[in-house]
Amino acid sequence: MKIDKILIATTNKGKLREFKKLFNEFGIEILSLEDMDKKINVEEDRKTFLENAIKKAKEYGDFYKIPVIAEDAGLEVEALNGYPGVYSARFYSIDFGGKFSIEENIDKTNVKKLLKLLEGKENRKGRFVSVVVFYVPENFGIWTEGYCYGSIAKQPKGDKGFGYDPIFIPENYTKTLGEFDLEEKNKISHRGQAVKKLIEKLKKLIN
Ligand code: IMP
Repeated sequence: MKIDKILIATTNKGKLREFKKLFNEFGIEILSLEDMDKKINVEEDRKTFLENAIKKAKEYGDFYKIPVIAEDAGLEVEALNGYPGVYSARFYSIDFGGKFSIEENIDKTNVKKLLKLLEGKENRKGRFVSVVVFYVPENFGIWTEGYCYGSIAKQPKGDKGFGYDPIFIPENYTKTLGEFDLEEKNKISHRGQAVKKLIEKLKKLIN
């Protein structure tokens, strides 16, 4: 089977940039939802990363009829019973820990809420999770997952990443993911791990 185009089912520019870099060497055209003329809205309303990723992959794949990669990702913090978890993108607005109104932008508001909820807590351990689903309409679907373990910094640092990157210090490092270059982040990130596993599985399936 020849795959020459993949739709990455996201509008998140940070994520898209990372996926593009990860697939760079394969000469596959990478599209995002912003490249599609007709728009559909798929709500991420499930309780697990996997269910959300499968839902996005199926709905976008069946609608646009091209191979799709859909990812659901988020940050799980031990002292917060795994929150923000599947609510990472809209953490500021959910009931857990009070609702915050958007000040500068959503990412910064999410970070502000997380730091507030961790004030005075000794355990600042957390992990990023990425679940990636690759779906070829009317053919097959596979999924993989990746993790990046670390801890939550006391204050944001670095502006190279997106989301919670400025407050996440990966294990064995002293800087935040916000201070990592793209290539360096992809080597250790949850997304990088999940995509690496996906590529290994695909090589076995396609060859
Ligand atoms: P999704 O689009 O539902 O997968 O939302 C993922 C949310 O989790 C993003 O909006 C970020 O807030 C957070 N997130 C996921 N991956 C990363 C990452 O690599 N760095 C920082 N934040 C991330």
